[in-house]
Amino acid sequence: MLALEQARHSLTQLGLDQAAAVLEGRLETAAHKQLPYADFLADLLGAETAARRERYLRTRTRLAHFPFQRTLEQFDFRFQPSIDERQVRELATLAFVAEAANLLLLGPPGVGKTHLAVALGLRAIEAGHGVYFVRAHDLLEDLRRAQAEHRLDRRLRVYLAPKVLVIDEFGVWPYDRVAATAFFTLISARYERGSVLLTSNKGFGEWGEVLGDPVVAAAILDRLLHHSHVLNIRGDSYRLREKKRAGLFAPVPPTAPLASPSPQEVMRTDHVPA
Ligand SMILES: Nc1ncnc2c1ncn2[C@@H]1O[C@H](COP(=O)(O)OP(=O)(O)OP(=O)(O)O)[C@@H](O)[C@H]1O
Ligand SMILES: [Mg+2]
Repeated sequence: MLALEQARHSLTQLGLDQAAAVLEGRLETAAHKQLPYADFLADLLGAETAARRERYLRTRTRLAHFPFQRTLEQFDFRFQPSIDERQVRELATLAFVAEAANLLLLGPPGVGKTHLAVALGLRAIEAGHGVYFVRAHDLLEDLRRAQAEHRLDRRLRVYLAPKVLVIDEFGVWPYDRVAATAFFTLISARYERGSVLLTSNKGFGEWGEVLGDPVVAAAILDRLLHHSHVLNIRGDSYRLREKKRAGLFAPVPPTAPLASPSPQEVMRTDHVPA
């Protein structure tokens, strides 16, 4: 008993809290099953490692500030046939994150842009990358204020640190020139350093209007699209699916593709999965 107490105390002192907590039970099981010492030790350390990974994932997920948690497994690809499932599976390998390439998810409301961005963000966390989720409006307002208060450099660090920056709902509101220029500074600084996952309901042709300056918009798009994948989702809103089934909505005509240039034109072939 003394040895057990001593072992538990040492484990706690070493910061192996989970191992300390399960020590007695695992010892009993090992004795009962007459496990070799090495198996017992591997089992005990495995419990500690699993608990640590769980804690790590929980903390990283909390720090990412996702609006909700959705996984790729929860995504119904049959509902959204305009999405190439194979391309999404390829993206889920996170090769694009390793290459600091970007992903742009475009399409009308409710087609699953944020769902896919969150799901890929969660995958990135599981792979050990830092992820931060921010709504475009909050991001640009934050940058605009920092610029106006001459502390943009310091503020940018928050958005430069994560390997994956998810910028959601770009283009819902128009932004002023100060915000647009600050956004350009951010995208330039992240260029070839970290991935941007951006969702938008606006086509690239409308970015000039959104940012109040076509030159700044072109400069931002140039950097964002250089190494990028574009998913142009066309289809019905998942949110309205139940309502439509109940006959509350008239059938919606097929959604027109987003404004030019088309994703095929802008999509770089160097990162398109074979
Ligand atoms: N194909 C799908 N399979 C399962 N759930 C889906 C699918 N598409 C969307 N959803 C769900 O529908 C809801 C709306 O999806 P999401 O928020 O991703 O849409 P969005 O494209 O980001 O829309 P918005 O442009 O309005 O922000 C979410 O709860 C999401 O999980
Ligand atoms: Mg969304």
